[in-house]
Amino acid sequence: METTLIILKPDAVQRGLMGRIIGRFEDKGLQVVGMKFMKIPQDLGQRHYEVHKGKPFYEGLLRYMTSSPVLVLALRGVSAVSITRKMMGATFGSNADPGTIRGDFGVSNSFNLVHGSDSPENAAKEVALWFGDGELVDWSRNTEGWIYDLTGEKPE
Ligand code: RTP
Ligand code: MG
Repeated sequence: METTLIILKPDAVQRGLMGRIIGRFEDKGLQVVGMKFMKIPQDLGQRHYEVHKGKPFYEGLLRYMTSSPVLVLALRGVSAVSITRKMMGATFGSNADPGTIRGDFGVSNSFNLVHGSDSPENAAKEVALWFGDGELVDWSRNTEGWIYDLTGEKPE
């Protein structure tokens, strides 16, 4: 199982799309193991987007992400990182495929509704950056045996 970091960005919150976006991840079978509603402190935003420091869009990206509250989620599942990235679609709604979150809910080339970790290594780092010890909840779903085939060695 992987745990990935998803952020519903300020435009998703302001546009009242939180429930519908979380619903898509829940419908898919991903398990919510952490959730935080917050206005991102400047230093946390800087640490999260450190890899983009120096790029032309970096300052604007930080302004956007810290301008208004976000909902931070930790989602768990087999291949959670690649599955959520596929569900998000290409970076901007203008060219994201229909059926994806960015493709269905946005048209902007700047605001793009959702962040998702892009590799298992980055997911581990990002989950540790946004959630402290004890802030993730390990819980078992009564539906687990119908979401995955649990009869073999590993969930399929
Ligand atoms: P994210 O990290 O938010 O999940 O998005 P991503 O992997 O699809 O895109 P990434 O290349 O990591 O860029 C991070 C965020 O920076 C903003 N961005 N703006 N104006 C631009 O050319 C530009 N490029 C990237 C977007 O908000 C993107 O999500
Ligand atoms: Mg990225």
